[in-house]
Amino acid sequence: MDNTDQPTVLLPGEVRMPLLGFGTWKATGSAAYDAVLAALDTGYRHLDTATLYGNEREVGRAVRESGLRREDLFITTKVPPDRVGRERETLEASLEALGVDQVDLWLIHWPPSATDSIPMWRELLAARDENLTRAVGVSNYSTSQIDELIQATEENPAVNQIRWGPMLYDRQRHAEHRDRGVVLEGYSPFKTTDLSDPVLTRIASAHGVSPAQVVLRWHIDHEIVVIPKSVTPERISANFDVFHFSLTAEEIRDIDALGGA
Ligand SMILES: NC(=O)c1ccc[n+]([C@@H]2O[C@H](COP(=O)([O-])OP(=O)(O)OC[C@H]3O[C@@H](n4cnc5c(N)ncnc54)[C@H](OP(=O)(O)O)[C@@H]3O)[C@@H](O)[C@H]2O)c1
Repeated sequence: MDNTDQPTVLLPGEVRMPLLGFGTWKATGSAAYDAVLAALDTGYRHLDTATLYGNEREVGRAVRESGLRREDLFITTKVPPDRVGRERETLEASLEALGVDQVDLWLIHWPPSATDSIPMWRELLAARDENLTRAVGVSNYSTSQIDELIQATEENPAVNQIRWGPMLYDRQRHAEHRDRGVVLEGYSPFKTTDLSDPVLTRIASAHGVSPAQVVLRWHIDHEIVVIPKSVTPERISANFDVFHFSLTAEEIRDIDALGGA
């Protein structure tokens, strides 16, 4: 499957973000390099890293080694909130480590203190305006924290990356993001899920896939971005093999109900 066939969601500025990405937290050193290269060989075109993951250099090396064109990849990194006042140098260090001129998405990793929140958001907007990143967003923000940014700057974060999965499904929170034009990106899809749950195992056997693949497909069918992490070659490829089936409306409702919504 080439990147033009993958489902994407549109961010402001005509930026296309693949709904399925590759997580890299806790993958470091040669394990990170090997995993990212395997992911790119498998077909993933969206990579998720962060200053704090300590693997941007390995991610960048895998990107170069893959031979893929930069414009065919979507790369996210994140600034830790304690870098307030040093946002620009943090992004420049990320770009240098990744070996790119621009990232596709730059996120505030989690909310800074109330006084730092707006100044930091303004720095992200400035970096976007200077084309150091194509889009900017946040991570681990509540809806009211997002509203504060929008009220102060009239600019909505393109994305909020939060912990998400069937057991955390919250219809209202999803709608709050949609209403504000903020794409919901879920993280820790497996860590937040009981993969032996009978609803997931029943739906998985109906499609001849694994419960993990059902969880990923459920995100995609909801148009929620999902970024599973693995350093295991078989899992890297199985987690990408979710485009040959889709869930019925009833199956999606049954999975939603695991979140109590
Ligand atoms: N913004 C934030 O604050 C934040 C926080 C957490 C995560 N994230 C991002 O989200 C990504 C994903 O979240 P995560 O790494 O916390 O958790 P995850 O993707 O839910 O789970 C990763 C774990 O699941 C295992 N795994 C992978 N595929 C599997 C499969 N098909 N069946 C069973 N187990 C499987 C992995 O093992 P192996 O690697 O050993 O195969 C690893 O132990 C991160 O890597 C990071 O990029 C962001």
